[in-house]
Amino acid sequence: MPAKIVLATRNRHKVGEIAAMAAGRGLEFSCLGDHRELPEVVEDQPTLEGNARKKSLEAALALGRWSLAEDTGLQVDALGGEPGVMSARYAGPGCDFAANNRKLLAALEGVEPRRRRAVFRTVMALCSPDGEVVLEDGVLEGSIGLAPRGTGGFGYDPVFLVGDTGRTLAELSSEEKNGLSHRRRAFEKMLPHLRRVAP
Ligand code: IMP
Repeated sequence: MPAKIVLATRNRHKVGEIAAMAAGRGLEFSCLGDHRELPEVVEDQPTLEGNARKKSLEAALALGRWSLAEDTGLQVDALGGEPGVMSARYAGPGCDFAANNRKLLAALEGVEPRRRRAVFRTVMALCSPDGEVVLEDGVLEGSIGLAPRGTGGFGYDPVFLVGDTGRTLAELSSEEKNGLSHRRRAFEKMLPHLRRVAP
């Protein structure tokens, strides 16, 4: 029988990516969309670590189950690391992905390509049913393009050029993105801890 674990997110893109990475590893995921009785987690911590910890802890304690959560930020050098922990709400409360990308490109208007370096960073948190949390992180290096390109992925993917490939994350197939992403790198580091859930 697969071991049950709750993915503490309502973001269907994250659920899809993490479930694909975990395929064949003896884990059965539910997500917060399957537990509508749980209140929304307020992501009010000043760090990715703090928010990832909070999301995993609240779900694990409420459900009495193992829980996996993550918080991701885009950190742009020329903007002093912004949007960072504010990545989801960069263009304001309730904004959509397109508004965030427009604001980011406007903030970098006139900044030459070699000064547009950026990283995606994911912090993943695994929490046991009794509230013990472990954290791991993953980083993907790249830069911000001059205009959005590609239709895959979500969020800032259309404006994030991967390393020096000249391709945005949104121009990669989902298999390609899941093979190299910040989320994948955090997940790989989390695998030894996940063996406690599914030996
Ligand atoms: P959070 O981890 O849900 O707080 O996500 C922060 C924001 O970062 C999201 O709203 C997305 O806009 C963006 N984001 C998170 N992961 C990715 C990714 O893999 N690609 C592009 N954008 C992402």
